[in-house]
Amino acid sequence: MRTAEERAGFIREHTELAPVPLVPELRLHLATEVTALWEATEAWLRAHDLPPPFWAFAWAGGQALARCLLDRPELVHGRRVLDFGAGSGLVAIAALRAGATCAVATDIDDFALAACTLNAAANGVALATDARDVSDASLEDIDVVLVGDMFYERTPSARFEPWLRALAAAGKTVLAGEPGRAFAPAGLVLEASYEVPTSLDLEGRTSRTGRVWRVPG
Ligand SMILES: C[S@@+](CC[C@H](N)C(=O)[O-])C[C@H]1O[C@@H](n2cnc3c(N)ncnc32)[C@H](O)[C@@H]1O
Repeated sequence: MRTAEERAGFIREHTELAPVPLVPELRLHLATEVTALWEATEAWLRAHDLPPPFWAFAWAGGQALARCLLDRPELVHGRRVLDFGAGSGLVAIAALRAGATCAVATDIDDFALAACTLNAAANGVALATDARDVSDASLEDIDVVLVGDMFYERTPSARFEPWLRALAAAGKTVLAGEPGRAFAPAGLVLEASYEVPTSLDLEGRTSRTGRVWRVPG
């Protein structure tokens, strides 16, 4: 399954277009039978040496950040944004709906980028995609860096934090949506907080507090 068309077909087949719980004005191709889909596709993807289907879920951190952008469009209006670790593309799509001039969704998983393109079209916006790991790039052409639920593994989180702080120090707005994962940075500035409905299957609970943090410049 190497072509973009095949990846899009796989996503359509294994998901349903459904509203995002905290952001019901946006619809995404989401897994409905969470455990079944995760197990089925994870086994299949593992057999084909592909990563698990993060793109089939609207993660709690991304939901909080997307909600915040739609509630406070001035954060991104008229600005060029990058959604780091975009997954479904939820955050980038919310930024475009809030008036961002353009958005780039980055993810190291090609399936996620296919999901971003499909989900953008389903919401009447168009975004660019980038498969590179940009977590050491200075992002000259970007004004706002958005990070939804990316601090769930120790080693990558330790690498992302100094990079994001350097971007903020260089004058970019850096916002992270974070639902209390183990490796989230400390010392950030709280912008907003939401109770995010979550799936019992996926998170082991029915809601999480999703906070939006600004990385200080
Ligand atoms: C938990 S999901 C979050 C997705 C989305 N931001 C959200 O909040 O719903 C994490 C995503 O980050 C991607 N990812 C992990 N490491 C990455 C990296 N170094 N660069 C870009 N994407 C990465 C994964 O492939 C996955 O799609």
